[in-house]
Amino acid sequence: MLGTAQFATPAFAQSTTETQAETPAATASAAPNPAPVHPELAGVFEQFGGVAGLTALNEEFMALMLADPRLEPYFRNVDHPRVTRQLTEQFCAVLGGGCTYSGRDMVEAHAAFKIERAHFNALVEVLQVAMNKRGIPFRAQNKLLAVLAPMHREIVND
Ligand code: HEM
Repeated sequence: MLGTAQFATPAFAQSTTETQAETPAATASAAPNPAPVHPELAGVFEQFGGVAGLTALNEEFMALMLADPRLEPYFRNVDHPRVTRQLTEQFCAVLGGGCTYSGRDMVEAHAAFKIERAHFNALVEVLQVAMNKRGIPFRAQNKLLAVLAPMHREIVND
């Protein structure tokens, strides 16, 4: 079909291509869903204390990242309340808590930074410390980490 369009008049071919690029299907295929919903994890969402528990967790998480020399350079200049809120939305959505994630996809959100596997591992380690401090049961911690771990494919870019 695109091949056919190339043989039409240039103006017509151009406008056809633009219309196609704007269809939801074309946009949705750009990067994996940054907040894939796992309805079966709704019990885990409760173990995190719902939205209030996730908010407290992510505030702790952000404070610990800012105190960690491996991660502080990345988070130094970002809007902390906004990123904390986006993380809460994302975690709530994936844990079947019914939130809608309104942030960017994981490729886009991290593209401006050089992120190595070691940074990803450091962030997960700090998230585990935050979850321990909040008293989240170990099994529940691992359920969340299992959903987040594959995102290294979109986030690690160096
Ligand atoms: C599983 C791992 C990770 C998850 C789930 C995650 C999730 C997110 C989310 C939801 C946002 C907000 C998106 C938005 O701004 O629209 C964000 C932003 C950000 N992330 Fe990550 N992230 C992860 C790993 C990392 C790592 C390893 C680093 C660097 C060491 C990092 C650095 C940042 C920074 C600096 C921002 C703020 C970007 C900005 O405001 O422009 N993230 N992340």
